[in-house]
Amino acid sequence: MKPMQDSWQFDTQCIHGGYTPDPVSHSRQVPLYMTSSYTFDSSEEAAAVFSTEKEGYIYTRINNPTNAVLEERMALLEGLEAGLTTSTGLSATLLVLLSLAQVGDEIALSPKLYGGAYRQFSYNAPRMGITPVWVDVDDPQGWEKAISPKTRFLYLETPGNPTLNVIDIAHVAQLAKQHGIPLVVDNTFCTPYLQRPADLGADIVIHSTTKYLAGNSTAMGGIVLGSQDYINRVRGEDYRNVGPAASPFNSWLILLSLETLPLRMDKHCSNAKAVVQYLENHPAVEKVIYPGLASHPDHAIAQKQMRDFGAMVAFEIKGGVSAGKAFIDNLKLCSLVANLGDARTLAIHPASTTHLPLSEEEQRVAGITPGLIRLSVGIENPKDILADVEQALAKIQSAPKMTSR
Ligand SMILES: Cc1ncc(COP(=O)(O)O)c(C=O)c1O
Repeated sequence: MKPMQDSWQFDTQCIHGGYTPDPVSHSRQVPLYMTSSYTFDSSEEAAAVFSTEKEGYIYTRINNPTNAVLEERMALLEGLEAGLTTSTGLSATLLVLLSLAQVGDEIALSPKLYGGAYRQFSYNAPRMGITPVWVDVDDPQGWEKAISPKTRFLYLETPGNPTLNVIDIAHVAQLAKQHGIPLVVDNTFCTPYLQRPADLGADIVIHSTTKYLAGNSTAMGGIVLGSQDYINRVRGEDYRNVGPAASPFNSWLILLSLETLPLRMDKHCSNAKAVVQYLENHPAVEKVIYPGLASHPDHAIAQKQMRDFGAMVAFEIKGGVSAGKAFIDNLKLCSLVANLGDARTLAIHPASTTHLPLSEEEQRVAGITPGLIRLSVGIENPKDILADVEQALAKIQSAPKMTSR
């Protein structure tokens, strides 16, 4: 008999959600079904599965039992009905775009997005005849102004990568409802442990599972979560036709990491607070951006919708681009990596890396300043993280004066 999974607490769901030991092997851990295809007992049965009269697996591009456990577990954790695992986070955003909009439509979205998502919406969407209308998220009327009768969905990321601006999900969800269109939220930075957009009215939640959910820079993955009807439609149409399915091995790795998500997130958050406190008092640092700081312009919203403030920290180094790059080059424990949400502390200088393909004006709109550093604070001992940041900042201060861009 299937356990009463809906009634379990969050940390229990992380370990057990979506899986009951299968009746054949009784395997305690979720089995890795590393297969592309599945047999049918007869052509009659095949026809029934193909026509969706009968539940069953056809081909891993459409569904897979290991991927299915991750889909169900994540749906339980996000408080949504169903999920669809994808090869990467960006294939999850692409599926949203393909499934909700077409030629002649518009989408209204925050420009404060991960650089890759910004490029997908600003470059690929127009090539499909879909117009991105960028919302001025600092204007309280910004979303309303961006919505027209052609708008098919609203899209946001909060906290935004890498500017860490926070958007009031409940407010935007209410507008979406008024206009009868879905709100899509990228919840990658928070994971459902820190923020549950569906509880605040979002209709669809996506993740790059490559980040905190995988947790250790092993697997690429993404997921789209929403109503059962929406997920069934996407699985049967765009997902099946376009082919962005997840590797079952990656889903299996992500399922293992999910078991420790609450423990890791608590440690990530407490380490991040230690780093923030240190940076705030450092003379080489112009400004620290962290939703947990009272000085953060969106602190009140963050307090309202997040359980804790996450482990992404941004700060502006005095001395612009050259100082930003020098800080990164002097780090020893922290790695220069184009990823986040790892057990290891990672650092990057967005202006010269993730956001380099954007023009200076686009960088400005996306909130990327010349000396901005993004830290993804890991779960090492905080003393070691602070010592590394301290020695790298000390080297910059003792170097000949930098010129800003
Ligand atoms: C917030 C956010 N969403 C989506 C993505 C894209 O995910 P992936 O790299 O798995 O395609 C990223 C990647 O950094 C991200 O930071």
